[in-house]
Amino acid sequence: MSNPHAAAVREVFLTGHRTGRAVAPSHFLAVRESPRPALQPGQVRVRNDFLQLTAVMADLMSEKPGLPMPAYPVGEPLWGGAVGTVVESAGRLAPGTVVQHMNGWREESSGDASLFYPVPVEVLPAPEYVLNQGVTAYHGMAEVAAAGEGDVVFVSGAAGGVGSLAGQIAKARGARKVIGSAGSPEKVKYLVEELGFDAGINYREGLVRERLAELAPGGINVFFDTVGGSQFEAAVQAAAQHARFALCGALAGQIDGGTGGFPRLDIMTAIVKQLRILPFATLHTSEQLAAWGAHYGRWLAEGKLVFPHTIIDGGLDAAPAALDALLEGRYRGNVVVRLH
Ligand SMILES: NC(=O)c1ccc[n+]([C@@H]2O[C@H](COP(=O)([O-])OP(=O)(O)OC[C@H]3O[C@@H](n4cnc5c(N)ncnc54)[C@H](OP(=O)(O)O)[C@@H]3O)[C@@H](O)[C@H]2O)c1
Repeated sequence: MSNPHAAAVREVFLTGHRTGRAVAPSHFLAVRESPRPALQPGQVRVRNDFLQLTAVMADLMSEKPGLPMPAYPVGEPLWGGAVGTVVESAGRLAPGTVVQHMNGWREESSGDASLFYPVPVEVLPAPEYVLNQGVTAYHGMAEVAAAGEGDVVFVSGAAGGVGSLAGQIAKARGARKVIGSAGSPEKVKYLVEELGFDAGINYREGLVRERLAELAPGGINVFFDTVGGSQFEAAVQAAAQHARFALCGALAGQIDGGTGGFPRLDIMTAIVKQLRILPFATLHTSEQLAAWGAHYGRWLAEGKLVFPHTIIDGGLDAAPAALDALLEGRYRGNVVVRLH
């Protein structure tokens, strides 16, 4: 718990590079206290209320993650999305302002006020609703795949942070049918009953290719892939002519290792169907942020979308083990740790 009079701030830091996927991320994380910095002109101090956890954080713990974002330095606290409240200000944000920022994994963050973005609390049911992966989901589904009216869409990893929003975005844009894959019957039920997917596939049970043939006999027009591996290969076989594949991630390789990130491409089928295979990286440009921002609050208010999320209690100390549990598939949707 953050104490306004304390001389120290609690934070989670990286104790060493993660060398392989066999060892859980929490093995390389520890909580410590660091001196609380004095506030400089222009700076604010923020009590962090919620921290966002995402699968990519585990990749960023390795020395060379090969991603379009900086790896976590050893000996430093991790960075990541957080929501907090300004508690002290020598800058342009008044105490009490609810803000979003990227200096998570600590109970309190200080810095120039320009690093902290006011949360539009008036259009959201709760501040933690901003800790979602909608920017990526929207970019991939709306702009890369251009999913819309009449499309038959398949989302892999559909109960995860990105996938759970990607499927709902396709529905909100008028897709005819949205199919999602997930790793348990409970998650498949969640997709259909709570997120409005038309059908779900438990990829651990039977062949995804056969289930897709049953559920989409005319083929899929859009594939939003967060998994790679055999699900990508199945989607090529299930694709309709000119289908668009938005490649977002390769969870099967990122989490389990192996060849998940190196699916085999049936080139002749891809040529005959003239597939458009479109890998993308969402860099959170101001345009990408604005595009999602223009839809999220409105779709929530109109009931076209829910914020799929799991809240973890237990404060900062619970965060390392929660990252392990995220990779093990124990949560649904976007994962948020309540810090206070
Ligand atoms: N391109 C971009 O700009 C961009 C931006 C952000 C994120 N990403 C990527 O998007 C993907 C999703 O990220 P996220 O944070 O939303 O992660 P996430 O889906 O929440 O990741 C956790 C889920 O991965 C699934 N999983 C674990 N092992 C699996 C396996 N072997 N095969 C299939 N699924 C497995 C589990 O679900 P089940 O229980 O259903 O198996 C688990 O719940 C990641 O690959 C991430 O790197 C890309």
